[in-house]
Amino acid sequence: MDQLSRRSLLRAGGTLGAAGALAVATQAVPWTWAPAWSRPGVGSGADPHFVYDPEGDDIVARLIDRGEVPRVNEILRGWTKNSQPIPEGLPGELRDFLQRAVQLPEWTDHRLLADAVRFNEKRGTYLGVLYGFASGMMSTVIPREARAVYFSKGGSDMKSRISKTAKLGYDVGSLNAYQPDGEMAVTAVKTRLSHAAVRHLLPQSPHWVHAADEVKPISQADIMVTWHSLPTTVMRNLRTWGVPLDPAESEGFLHSWQVTAYMLGVEDQYIPNSWETADLQAQQVLDPILAPTPEGIKLADMLLDLGYNIDLTLLTRPVLGALTRFILGDQVADWLHIPREPVWSPLLETAWGPFIAIREGLLTGGVPKETYWMIDELLRQFVLYYMAELKTPITIEIPMFNNPN
Ligand code: HEM
Repeated sequence: MDQLSRRSLLRAGGTLGAAGALAVATQAVPWTWAPAWSRPGVGSGADPHFVYDPEGDDIVARLIDRGEVPRVNEILRGWTKNSQPIPEGLPGELRDFLQRAVQLPEWTDHRLLADAVRFNEKRGTYLGVLYGFASGMMSTVIPREARAVYFSKGGSDMKSRISKTAKLGYDVGSLNAYQPDGEMAVTAVKTRLSHAAVRHLLPQSPHWVHAADEVKPISQADIMVTWHSLPTTVMRNLRTWGVPLDPAESEGFLHSWQVTAYMLGVEDQYIPNSWETADLQAQQVLDPILAPTPEGIKLADMLLDLGYNIDLTLLTRPVLGALTRFILGDQVADWLHIPREPVWSPLLETAWGPFIAIREGLLTGGVPKETYWMIDELLRQFVLYYMAELKTPITIEIPMFNNPN
C-alpha cells in the first residue's frame, strides 16, 4: 500500500471533490489561550494562526527558487550531531540561520531532560502504541495537517511519515537527545526547514485543498495542534489508563516537548508552562477541530497497513483498526471507516484496563492468562517495530516539489 502513487489514491478516493468541499469548510477556532499560561508568562498575544517562521521561510523559499535545494540537502546529510559545526559550503544566510536555530532555548533545564529520559525508559512500552496509534492516527483527523501531508511530497507514504514522527517522539526522550553528542536539535531544525519548504511549495499546488482562512500551511497554531496530538495525547491516555506517573518524570516529559516546540520555531508565548495549561490549550485548539476529510481517510487507510510485509503477526489491519477504535473512540473510527473488529474490539474494551493494572502491579489477577499474553505481545511487537525503525537515523530533507501527480 505504501507503494501507491497519489494518483491511484485520488482514484480510490473517488468523491474527493464533493467531500473535499465539505472538509474545507473547517475553519480554525479563534485562539484565546493567554500568554500568561506560556513558558515566559508574557507575550504579544498575536494570533498564531497567522504566525509562521518569517526568517526560515524566506531563506528556504529563496533556496527553492534558486534551485539550490539538492546541493544543500547533500551538504546537510552529513550534519547530524547537535555539537557538530555547521558544514562548509552552504549559502551564507542559511549557515547563519542554522547557527542560531540549533541553539537550545536559554530556559532549557538539563535536570528535567534527564527526568524525561527516565519517563521514556519506564513508559517506552506504551509509547510505541501511543505515538503510532494515538498521535499518528489522530493526525489523519486534523484536517489542516491531513491535507498538508496528503498534497505534499511525502503524502503517498504515510507509513514512512508516521514512523518518522513516532521515531522523533522516541528521540525527543532519548538519553542524549539534546546533549552535545545527541541529534535532536539538528533533527528539529531540519524539520523546521522542511516545514518552511512546504509553506512555499504547497500554495503553488493546483491540487492543495485548504480552508479559506489558510493562506499558507503550517502556522504556529497548527504546530501546537499537532504538538497536542503528541505529548498531550500521550499523557491523556496514560492518565485514562491509570498508569502511575512520577510527577518529576511527567514534568520532564513535558519539558522535552517544550524544548522541541521551541526548536521547531514556535514562539515561547505559545508554549504551555504546565500540563494543566497544555490541556487547556488542547481543549481549545485540538479537541474541537478533529474532523474527517477525504485526504485523512486515505492516509489512515495507509497507516493501517503499517505491519504489511513485516514479520510481526499481530500488527495486522484488523488489530490496528481495533486499537484505533479503542484509543481514539468510536466517532473517530467511524469517520475513518474503520470497522469494529469482532474479537479485538471487545477484548481491548474489557481487558485493557485490568491488563494495565496487573502490569503496573496494582492488581494481581482478573484477566485470563491468554488475554494478558496477547495484549502484552501486541505492545512488544510495537516496540520491536520501532526498535527496527530506530536503527536507521531519521533523514530529513528539504522537499523541492509537491506530490506531482
Ligand atoms: C515534515 C514532524 C507539525 C506537515 C515533517 C517531518 C517531521 C515532522 C519529522 C519530516 C518528515 C520527513 O522527512 O518525511 C512534525 C512535528 C510537528 C509537525 C513534530 C509538531 C509538533 C506539522 C504540521 C503540519 C505538518 C502542523 C501541517 C499542518 C508536514 C509536511 C511535511 C512535514 C507537509 C513534509 C512532508 C514531505 O516531505 O512531503 N514534520 N511536524 N507538520 N510536516 Fe511536520
